[in-house]
Amino acid sequence: MRFAGKRAVVTGGASGIGRATALRLVREGAEVWIGDIDEAGGAEVAQTSNGRIHFQRTDVLQAAEIEALMHAADAAGGLDVVFNNAGAGGSRDSIDAISPEDWDRTQALLLRSVALGIRYAAPLMIARGQGGAIVNTSSVAALQTGAAPTAYSVAKAGVLHLTTLAAADLAQYRIRVNAVCPGFITTNIFTSALGISGEKRDMANGMIGQAAAQAQPLQRAGTSDDIAAAVAYLASEDASFVTGTRIVVDGGLTIGPRHSWDPKAPSMFAALEAFAS
Ligand SMILES: NC(=O)c1ccc[n+]([C@@H]2O[C@H](COP(=O)([O-])OP(=O)(O)OC[C@H]3O[C@@H](n4cnc5c(N)ncnc54)[C@H](O)[C@@H]3O)[C@@H](O)[C@H]2O)c1
Repeated sequence: MRFAGKRAVVTGGASGIGRATALRLVREGAEVWIGDIDEAGGAEVAQTSNGRIHFQRTDVLQAAEIEALMHAADAAGGLDVVFNNAGAGGSRDSIDAISPEDWDRTQALLLRSVALGIRYAAPLMIARGQGGAIVNTSSVAALQTGAAPTAYSVAKAGVLHLTTLAAADLAQYRIRVNAVCPGFITTNIFTSALGISGEKRDMANGMIGQAAAQAQPLQRAGTSDDIAAAVAYLASEDASFVTGTRIVVDGGLTIGPRHSWDPKAPSMFAALEAFAS
């Protein structure tokens, strides 16, 4: 019960990583306000929680709606935890083709929203004087190429640097700011990006899960609960001396291949063993 008596905001809480994190925080004692544009999903999560989760329709592209969400949680007794997580795939166009409008929309959804989440949460936490914990969703796409489209990856890299700068600004108030970098996690984000819904969504998610299991060295698909566990740690007093950093939760995706001299690893060097005497 690391969050007993605490209030948390989770954006993007109607689905996937945000939903799992909201439920995890509630299981550990928190009262949670989720902000999302998915009203049906938000209402469903709220119903499963015995009144411990409140859904407030919030479009993170709208500054005033983010501010209102932070105030709703704060008004109930003080804001302790914020998870700036809402997002979607953004523009898939390459850098030689993307329109200025699509670039701006993707940055606004994935980076500006996080900046504004901190912008409107921090003054409330500072005024209360009890510290606080902010966790931002970045991605392995912030760390390397090949994981996601360009505009998305740049925004997620921005989230990481924003996290360190905000941590430096807010440490004096005992407000910690950290990030989580999910790897390949089976949520609806991929099917939503491709406009796949209904029964086809379940089939596509099954295929995505299989692909994810093959792509990740730990040989299983990542789950929203894997990310929720890391977020809960960063948001809790267990991480009271941790700020300005990130946890990569990716089943080993970003560690790279095994060393090339290992005879069991497929590589040019292993093939050369045949010539060794
Ligand atoms: N799934 C992955 O593999 C993965 C990997 C790295 C990072 N992420 C990041 O994790 C976060 C959560 O994604 P997910 O995988 O749980 O996907 P998801 O689609 O299951 O959940 C995203 C939620 O964000 C909400 N949302 C989208 N636009 C919004 C807006 N303008 N305002 C408010 N809410 C909005 C959606 O309605 C949805 O409920 C995102 O920031 C995503 O970029 C996901």
